[in-house]
Amino acid sequence: MKAIEIRNKYLNFFEKHGHKVIPSAPLIPENDPSVLFTTAGMQPLVPYLLGEKHPEGTRLTDYQKCVRTNDIDEVGDNRHLTYFEMLGNWSLGDYFKEESIEMSFEFLTKELGIAVEKLSVTCFAGDEDCPRDEVAAKAWKKAGIPESHIYYYGKDDNWWIAGEEGPCGPDTEMFYDTGKPACGPDCQPSCDCGKYVEIWNNVFMEYFKDKNGYTKLKQRNVDTGLGLERMAMLLQGKETPFDTELFAPVMDKLVELQKQDIIESRRIVAEHLRSSMMIISDGGRPSNIDRGYVLRRLIRRMIRHMNKLQIDLNELSTLIDINVDNLKEMYSDLEINKEIIKNTINEEKDKFVKTLAHGEREFEKEINKLNQKGIKIIPGEVVFKLYDTYGFPPEVTKELAEENEFEINLKEFDELFKKHQEKSRAGSEQKFKGGLAEQTEETIAYHTATHLLNAALKQVIGKDAHQRGSNITVDRMRFDFNCDHKLTVEEKQQVEELVNKWIQEELPVTKEEMKKEDAIKSGAECMFIEKYPDIVTVYSIGNISKELCGGPHVNNTKELGRFKIKKEESSSSGVRRIKAVLIK
Ligand code: ALA
Repeated sequence: MKAIEIRNKYLNFFEKHGHKVIPSAPLIPENDPSVLFTTAGMQPLVPYLLGEKHPEGTRLTDYQKCVRTNDIDEVGDNRHLTYFEMLGNWSLGDYFKEESIEMSFEFLTKELGIAVEKLSVTCFAGDEDCPRDEVAAKAWKKAGIPESHIYYYGKDDNWWIAGEEGPCGPDTEMFYDTGKPACGPDCQPSCDCGKYVEIWNNVFMEYFKDKNGYTKLKQRNVDTGLGLERMAMLLQGKETPFDTELFAPVMDKLVELQKQDIIESRRIVAEHLRSSMMIISDGGRPSNIDRGYVLRRLIRRMIRHMNKLQIDLNELSTLIDINVDNLKEMYSDLEINKEIIKNTINEEKDKFVKTLAHGEREFEKEINKLNQKGIKIIPGEVVFKLYDTYGFPPEVTKELAEENEFEINLKEFDELFKKHQEKSRAGSEQKFKGGLAEQTEETIAYHTATHLLNAALKQVIGKDAHQRGSNITVDRMRFDFNCDHKLTVEEKQQVEELVNKWIQEELPVTKEEMKKEDAIKSGAECMFIEKYPDIVTVYSIGNISKELCGGPHVNNTKELGRFKIKKEESSSSGVRRIKAVLIK
């Protein structure tokens, strides 16, 4: 079964069971600078898991584009992916364990036709925070899973939370037995040998965790996630996701183009290319910080591996074309954004080619220094600097070293690398934690001010000054919009004065739910119309602003304080950026 068929079956199945199909949120979370990428289907739904009413009701389903980058360096093996699609269904205070398990069982065995003997499940073993999940185990037995295929594990395996704080709960996971021989008498789903592959995770989200511990949420939710690539691989009887139709055309082309045969490198190129294309298509651009840096790393790692395969880098455009053709049925945006994707990747390639040349010069300098001292081993510190600053993988440094009759201190490098990895992991967890439930008074006020700024720019610059991006922290707002010139001093002043006038007018902020077409007809602003569900929330500020938006907002503009533009600059071609603050 092809991935797209699995996706369609899934959405239809849950629609039949009373769920509304909602669109995939963008990979780059809107208005949320504290999260790098969308990493799970539940992430855009956090406010609703916490109790806010969702305009589409209490049963939802979608496919969500996700990027997880903690394990970039693992890609190349037979299973790790940075981009993947998560199929999910949610109960927002509606059904709970029994019904969720019944539906999962029916979907796996009836819709996908998986034999019951192939399935094993795991449930939460219980601890001081939450009892053993006998309810889930009983529901599995009732559905038809034999007792011998039900396992209990503790929080490490059967508890799910995004990051450190937020909605969470015990989960039940479903595993597929690949039929490979057991690795020993203790071989179980929790074991990593590859016999059992996790296919679906149903989280019973009824807790909230913060630094003081666990409390019960207002409602009992179900949050599930099924990895599409993995399911396609298993149902097609393939060994890796790279053997499925999702990657096969690019993988085949790489075989045709390569002069060196290195399977890991082909996987890395195919995987990072798809990830980069998805990120760029959703608005990501390479840079030296945060998500831009992740994208840069993906593109550069891909290029290094094209070099290893000895593939001409001019073939990148051909590979992009192949991927667009192959994936456009699943992701129509890829075709729309094809030129931007090509330009972005090719520009980054040109930059990296220069960087590599620079790195080689740096390498020579380092060995000259060592030669003078009569040292023939390149210290780990230097190997790491070449890796971190110049993108030189240690194996390339090693090759160059050997050509120059040097050795490298790999052990020292590995230690530094490990430290660096721990730091970046801690960093991304931190990011996740900050972004989820954190809606402070400041960020809410900036959110409302963003709508005012959007309206003011339309009056001062013109109605084509559409929003292109927005980013809010507790200290400031940043807003990107279409505009073909640098704002004049007068224009900036007019914008500031208008926003401050509206603040002083103490305008009420109101929220209503309506059909998407009615919202558009009524003139409400929105960034990506196709990305909204059929019923939308519209926020109005007096009669000066009306936008499709998930909120939250202040109740009245008088809560905002004084608005001040701190900076106006170019963001990209035809797009200007304003940074502004609210002074209370
Ligand atoms: N949120 C859960 C996960 O990502 C379903 O596994």
